[in-house]
Amino acid sequence: IARPLRDGALLAIDQGTTNTKAMLLDASTGLVLAEASAPTSIAFPAPGWVEQDAERLWTATMAAVDGCLEQQPEARVVGIGISNQRETVVCWSRSTGRALGPALGWQDARTTAWCADLLEREPSAAQTIRQRTGLSLDPMFSAPKFRTSIDAAVAGGADPTDVAVGTVDAWLVWRLTGQHVTELGNASRTLLLDLASLAWHDDLLSLFGIDAARLPEPRPSDASFGVTSTRHGRLPAGVPVLAVLADSHAALYHHGCTTPGTGKATYGTGTSVMSPTKDPSAGPHGIATTVAWHVGGAPTYAREGNIVASGSALDWMASTLGVPEGTAGGAHLTALAGEVPDSGGVCFVPAFSGLGAPYWDRSAVGVLVGVSGGTTRGHLARAALEAVAHQVTDVVEAMESDGSARIDTLHADGGATASGLLMQVQADLLGRPLEVASSPAASALGAARLAAEHLGVATPPAEPGHRVAPHPPTSSDAGAARRSWRQAIARSRGLTVSQTDPTLR
Ligand code: G3P
Repeated sequence: IARPLRDGALLAIDQGTTNTKAMLLDASTGLVLAEASAPTSIAFPAPGWVEQDAERLWTATMAAVDGCLEQQPEARVVGIGISNQRETVVCWSRSTGRALGPALGWQDARTTAWCADLLEREPSAAQTIRQRTGLSLDPMFSAPKFRTSIDAAVAGGADPTDVAVGTVDAWLVWRLTGQHVTELGNASRTLLLDLASLAWHDDLLSLFGIDAARLPEPRPSDASFGVTSTRHGRLPAGVPVLAVLADSHAALYHHGCTTPGTGKATYGTGTSVMSPTKDPSAGPHGIATTVAWHVGGAPTYAREGNIVASGSALDWMASTLGVPEGTAGGAHLTALAGEVPDSGGVCFVPAFSGLGAPYWDRSAVGVLVGVSGGTTRGHLARAALEAVAHQVTDVVEAMESDGSARIDTLHADGGATASGLLMQVQADLLGRPLEVASSPAASALGAARLAAEHLGVATPPAEPGHRVAPHPPTSSDAGAARRSWRQAIARSRGLTVSQTDPTLR
């Protein structure tokens, strides 16, 4: 195992939906010295509700950090870089520092009716929100969940002036350093940040009925977020938090995708497809505009399509088909899907809680169409892999529909990239090559890279991954597959095909 050099070590934390990863890297070379992870908890207490134990988000983070430091007890940690799951909301007491209820997860859709009521009361709200924040009004984003959490805390007896809220970055930084601050990329996912001024906007605060005093102060991604206020496990007091990035944005940073025409897909529980843009105004329908990061005194904006169910759809199909004990779901599904040359006409739309980008239709339902007496488990497994790839293709096509620079090569990272078949199907449907990351930990590495840059250390570029070239179009028949998929999407949304795509009439 490599030993930390005299310049000390950087600690990278990636707090995700299902686990927290931590990495210790040599501060001068970027060499990974230690890695550890710890699981979080997730609960689904009612249809559409997704809760996480906020204290567990913290303890899982510290367990992963301790796991790294245990492997390198001599390491002198000189700084911390954080990447984190976005949109998830934590509400806590300033005086006790304890969470005032569960974290409401980014997939949580309990505020669907609240959002619909808002639109009924103020029909212009959708346009105001889109113009100011670059986002659609959807329960995935934080503001309606901030509101719900604050209301629940106050109803439970909390003193309103003692209540603090924030996304997961704010929660971790609060616990580490005692500062109530958030990073601009994370803040841009809340529906409250004005993309032009990069500040909370009064009109948005009043739409959601949120007092700015409850919110953290937005800061650039490479700002000072304070120093650890006390010893936390093996992590000593006095270590500065040098960089914070939202996880998807951190992966984009790691890939070096900093200009239009570059882009990446992160295949996690959901999938985030992202590409930098020079235009901070609202993008094509169904595509968000967001702050990728704010580094060196300037913001970089990005277009993004957020797919709600991808890894979760693969997990569901794997467990439904019966994963043999001790086998990873994704590997099992890929093996099954490899038994057949195609899905045999089966299309699976995993709209478990509606559809995200580019449809943003919460009324869409999950459907499995084209099932016949000849359908095998292999066809179903293949349909699940194809569902992930079709959704990414939908987003890339929507992103480019306004004439934005074409993403010639799509970078791919995240757990599901381990499926070579998924990557091939993706390249075939897109008709362009993929650059698959060598490390699944792109988000942690992106945060580490920015932390190193904050220290003035030039980090080596991301290690090249492997390239997956699309098969020639004639053999892949991507056009027919795309038509079947669009028909399945129309059924999922309860629309006739002609309502969704005139070319299919
Ligand atoms: O927008 C939600 C996303 O940030 C969650 O990421 O990696 O936890 O699925 P992940």
